Amino acid sequence: MTQTLQPAPSLLSIIILAAGKGTRMQSAKPKVLQTLAAKPLLTHVLDTCQTLNTDNTIVVYGFGGDQVKAAMRDYDYKVTWVEQVEQLGTGHAVKVTLDALPMTGKSLILYGDVPLVSAATLKRLQHANVEGLSMLTLTVDNPFGLGRIKRNDNHDVIAIVEQKDASAAEQAICEINSGIYCVDNALLHQYLPKLSNDNAQHEYYLTDIVKMAVADGITIAAIEPEHTFEIDGVNNRQQLATLERRWQAKLVADLQEQGVQFADPSRVDIRAQMSVGQDIFVDINVVFQGKVVLGNNVTIDAGCIIKDSYIGDNVHLKPYCVLDDAQLGAAVSVGPFAHLRPQTVLADNARLGNFVEIKKSYLGAGSKVNHLSYIGDATIGAAVNVGAGVITCNYDGFNKHQTLIADNAFIGSNSSLVAPVTIGHTATIGAGSVITKDVAANALAIGRGRQIQKENYKRPDKDE
Ligand code: UD1
Ligand code: CA
Repeated sequence: MTQTLQPAPSLLSIIILAAGKGTRMQSAKPKVLQTLAAKPLLTHVLDTCQTLNTDNTIVVYGFGGDQVKAAMRDYDYKVTWVEQVEQLGTGHAVKVTLDALPMTGKSLILYGDVPLVSAATLKRLQHANVEGLSMLTLTVDNPFGLGRIKRNDNHDVIAIVEQKDASAAEQAICEINSGIYCVDNALLHQYLPKLSNDNAQHEYYLTDIVKMAVADGITIAAIEPEHTFEIDGVNNRQQLATLERRWQAKLVADLQEQGVQFADPSRVDIRAQMSVGQDIFVDINVVFQGKVVLGNNVTIDAGCIIKDSYIGDNVHLKPYCVLDDAQLGAAVSVGPFAHLRPQTVLADNARLGNFVEIKKSYLGAGSKVNHLSYIGDATIGAAVNVGAGVITCNYDGFNKHQTLIADNAFIGSNSSLVAPVTIGHTATIGAGSVITKDVAANALAIGRGRQIQKENYKRPDKDE
């Protein structure tokens, strides 16, 4: 007898509300595409969802939906998009997802403009209650504008009251609703069709499901987030900037715990996924982007911008270097003022000095390009010395060509290597040469005008 195994029904769904316009941002972009740490707000939430065990993530979109969907195509999230044509309130926004929502299991309800809620907090929320409904709340100094948590004499949650509907006594409550909940899908299916908009804002309030659940005898669990910024929403540029600083402080603190020393924790920007060794020193105004791996004992001087790069042990980046998609071996030294463009590889002990631009090139172990050079589409062996002002002429106006320099070669200052060209091992190029033909191993090549000398030369007089 054969048995067909059915996939287990998805226990957790996630509903992300992202239909609002975000008028106060004063932007042509939908609010959830504004960036925090260089990532759209919505991708922060979606990245967190990816770490939760779900295969049903629903995003409710409205204003600028096409832009939001197009932007998310750059990432590979699996998302069900549900349109909310008119924004009639948070309850209505969740109601439009009911067709896409299983009858069983639970849903986390999140917001595209509340980017930093953590997976740890959401897991606690998910398991805070076996029955029906759990929510994230927080006691704050200034609750103005937010929904208030009403509790009975037993301290049980009995309702949420919105600012505009609250009595004076209710307005004095300092425990606020974050808007983030974990709710049984069965309850959402049961309650949402029954919501009314009979309130001060004539909106369908999602918050009303709390009193409906209480009326059905369900005990509501309320937990607090670990960090207050987890429930902070973004409504204007000031709030976005404040949240960015809070998030930066958290990212810096996490790196400090892993052994990174910052000259000033408030003057660095982490817009990257970082992996770090120990005893790293980061001076002021350094920016990390993309994916960055730093080995042990790395020193990064002021003003460096490092994107999508691997930095080996004992590397020293001197001030104001820009790295994009570069791989640096151990004990490499770079800068000051060097520009490493994509597909640059510097082997162990290589040195790249000031005002050097390098792209799509390999610089072998112990080799040096110390001053004022352009190196593009080149493969350079070990122990090569590239003198000041050397240019690899890699572009003929149409195609890019390769320059190959074998081990131990010496390229004299101010030489132009016209690619495609190969310089053999231990070859020497005289300073100021224009090299258009391959140079054999151990040879000396000089390609420049000969110096002539006229003895006792007299410059012309003025009137002649
Ligand atoms: C809501 C809560 C309030 C809570 C606060 C936390 C309700 C009725 N109130 O109030 O208790 O303290 O959040 O910030 O839920 N949205 C849609 N479609 C809509 C309406 C809203 O997608 O029709 C989205 C918005 O884009 C926004 C979020 O839901 O991201 C919150 O909506 P908003 O109207 O700002 O709710 P609040 O009044 O802040
Ligand atoms: Ca709001």
